[in-house]
Amino acid sequence: MNAIEMRLLPRTASVNADGALSIGGVAVAEIAAQFGTPTFIYDEQHLRETCREAVAAFGEDRVIYATKAFINTAVVQLMNEEGLLLDVATGGELFVALNAGVPASRCVMHGNNKSEDELRTAMTAGLRHIVIDSFDEIERIERLHAEGLPAPRVQLRITPGLHVETHAYVSTGQDDSKFGFNLNNGDAHRAVERARSSQAMDLVGIHCHIGSNVVTVANFEDAWRVMVELFVPLSLPEITLGGGLGVAYTADDTAPTMQQWADVLKRATSALPEGIAVYVEPGRSIVASAAITVYSVGTVKPIDGIRTYVSVDGGMSDNPRPMMYGSVYEAFDPLRVIAPRSAKARIVGKHCESGDILILDAPIAEGVQVGDLLATPVTGAYGYTMASNYNKVPRPAIVFVANGVARLVTRRETLEDLIRLDV
Ligand code: LLP
Repeated sequence: MNAIEMRLLPRTASVNADGALSIGGVAVAEIAAQFGTPTFIYDEQHLRETCREAVAAFGEDRVIYATKAFINTAVVQLMNEEGLLLDVATGGELFVALNAGVPASRCVMHGNNKSEDELRTAMTAGLRHIVIDSFDEIERIERLHAEGLPAPRVQLRITPGLHVETHAYVSTGQDDSKFGFNLNNGDAHRAVERARSSQAMDLVGIHCHIGSNVVTVANFEDAWRVMVELFVPLSLPEITLGGGLGVAYTADDTAPTMQQWADVLKRATSALPEGIAVYVEPGRSIVASAAITVYSVGTVKPIDGIRTYVSVDGGMSDNPRPMMYGSVYEAFDPLRVIAPRSAKARIVGKHCESGDILILDAPIAEGVQVGDLLATPVTGAYGYTMASNYNKVPRPAIVFVANGVARLVTRRETLEDLIRLDV
């Protein structure tokens, strides 16, 4: 098997003559030594470039970054500096954004079950808009408005009723979904009428999000055409066409670029009248390949005639995606990046179950040893944000690297952190 492909690594990744990896001008081994393992290492320049490419492709104030993909104080500040708006799906995500200094007017709220508290916070703070997901939510907003809260600008989330090629757990465009107002059964039209006639909200647009990690551009084009057809006769000023652009996780994957995605959008929205604000809401495609996770190998267990297990010091607690969706990753030794990966191993974590597998059958360099580093690329999205403390494993550190400097942006959890909620 070949060495890891550079296209899977963050953009400033470079390899020295000895085969050792640096990101942002800092040796990965040095970062591991300084901050410990496992650590998420994000390439700040890569993050800024993907933000700029998105803004260039879709326009100023038209890109809403879905913070669920990766959120902490540093990254929302970076996104805000780069001109992205923020999609928050809970009061928790909103709190992080506002606390980091992002203006409420640059945040958009989502969620299929927003609580009254979450809506109250959003309406009081004056978010850019709220994406309403259900009739119950319309009623909740009306109650809060009757209490004296200002009427929010709102969009309605529509479920266009289409099949999308991705994992069923992250597919959201089909009729059988907890999200949004169904187009096919008439709920979407009923919701438009209901919201339009309400004094408690200012209906400004409609929204759809068909699913996540979608790499088939025809899926977007089909859904967006349906949305445009619905939208035009409504004479509203705004439409949001969701996120969902997939990324390549392994050498076997290909994914459209941001610009190709924008070209599809341009085609699908060509029938829109002038002056309509068309938003997109990418998460994964902005952050996924900006990061790697670096682990230490703690146990190597060859079982003759069966396989070799390589255990690292993290696992399903920092990357549940292989277990949840059968997602496939690659692994490599950041000190031997150019070595052929002619050995095979199952890369597993330190948790107490056999399903704690990061990679089922990973090509790795020969002779992996206890104490070696092992890295998995493309872990920048839905990794840390879905991390847990299972088995009371403290969550990893997050480090941003740029111009030869590594800075800690989220510290590693301590043992004390593990009991901070116990009373
Ligand atoms: N907008 C809405 C309303 C969403 O629900 C999502 C993702 C996005 C935008 C951003 O989608 P993206 O561009 O990141 O695909 N945990 C799963 C992914 C869940 C996605 C949920 N919604 C995973 O690890 O694959």
